[in-house]
Amino acid sequence: MRSFTYIRSPGNLSSKEKDIEKHMEVIENKLWLGDLSVEDLMQEFGSPLYVYEEDTIRAQYRRLYESFPGVSLQIHYAMKANPNPALLKILLDEGAWLDAVSPFETKLAREVGFLPEHILFTGNNIPLSELEYGLEEGLLINIESLSLLEEFGKAHPGKELSLRINPGMGSGHHAHCITGGPRSKFGIYYDQLDEIHEILTRYQLKLTGIHAHIGTGILEPEPMLEALDMILTITHQFSGLQFVDIGGGFGIPYRPEQSLLNLPELGAQISRKFLQFCDAYGTSLDLKIEPGRYLMASSGTLLATVNNIKKTPDYQFVGVDTGFNHLLRPALYGSYHRVCNASRMEGDEESMVLAGYICESGDVLTHNSEGMTTQFFPRPRLGDRLAILDAGAYGMAMSSQYNMRNRPAEVLVTQGKARLIRKRETYQDLIRGFVF
Ligand code: LLP
Repeated sequence: MRSFTYIRSPGNLSSKEKDIEKHMEVIENKLWLGDLSVEDLMQEFGSPLYVYEEDTIRAQYRRLYESFPGVSLQIHYAMKANPNPALLKILLDEGAWLDAVSPFETKLAREVGFLPEHILFTGNNIPLSELEYGLEEGLLINIESLSLLEEFGKAHPGKELSLRINPGMGSGHHAHCITGGPRSKFGIYYDQLDEIHEILTRYQLKLTGIHAHIGTGILEPEPMLEALDMILTITHQFSGLQFVDIGGGFGIPYRPEQSLLNLPELGAQISRKFLQFCDAYGTSLDLKIEPGRYLMASSGTLLATVNNIKKTPDYQFVGVDTGFNHLLRPALYGSYHRVCNASRMEGDEESMVLAGYICESGDVLTHNSEGMTTQFFPRPRLGDRLAILDAGAYGMAMSSQYNMRNRPAEVLVTQGKARLIRKRETYQDLIRGFVF
């Protein structure tokens, strides 16, 4: 047992400061999010529940936008991080464009109001028919394999496209999250530029941009800058381009001891290099980035209710009404999400495993790279509400209906008011599509 200290981060922003950024407050020892008490939110919308804060999304977008001085910047939100239309609308309002990876993502984006020419369609291992769909819809087409480029050229000579290149290096918070380098399935490897030129010429295809995305959850500037150099060197091999897209990957500090990515510094360095490149290239190109996590993660909190408390010789388990069906990141990558006891924020902290309600031993929300682990938080009582932080990106988006458990509702908090932005799934939702 140790006593609770709310400020515990030695990073360049303390947890408390990060919480203020997220509009987290403790009133009478209970957690409030965006001026609303967690208890009231759960009374109104039920448990478990995803809650997003609009102000945080807008602040992150603006922070990013302002970090790239002097360049013509287009921010394509990677909607795979969280495709909820209410959240997409906030980003549309901020001026975002989109990174989409499937026809249905693009369909939803169009319904929300994004212009087709603002949607960069980057599928992975897709058939020609999906590119043709993109072409008909007027999307920006991004091709990431030589065989698909050949097929596309044969069928649609003279068309415009951009190319996803694997710049030979990658970085990410987990091996599954590195998307560049010789072990990665993404993009056309940078040593195949001759073949690219040959196909482009043969079919008179018009190359408008070079794209690369090296990975996700990056908190250090070095890999991004190294990749940028490589991408610009590759870009120089092609003439007549309109843009360079350096992908997403901008990380956020999930752990209290992690520091924020120094975005103003990184953005300034990227901008400087990019402007120098444009001078040498002879035209001023647009710079595209594709953030997902950076815009959404810290805006979202997964709230759950304590159903069970039990002890084994090794661990104290707190059992809640959610699990890896709603937040897969801990089980899949060993990712850390800070857990708070929203019903008693301060008190004697104990080391506990937060376990889900899915019938698998791996259904634990406190994992690290070695497997199951614990977190310290004030010992809950049955019925207490727990808050699992920084769950706005790749949380609900990666959820499933495993064990025939329905997905939670989603709520958006804007200036002290909460509104439902996705209904809790029902039994009927779960069985739709079954043929009895
Ligand atoms: N652009 C492309 C082509 C991508 O594949 C991705 C993410 C992004 C942009 C956005 O990356 P971000 O800015 O969010 O790092 N499920 C994992 C993350 C997988 C990311 C997949 N691609 C996680 O929960 O950590």
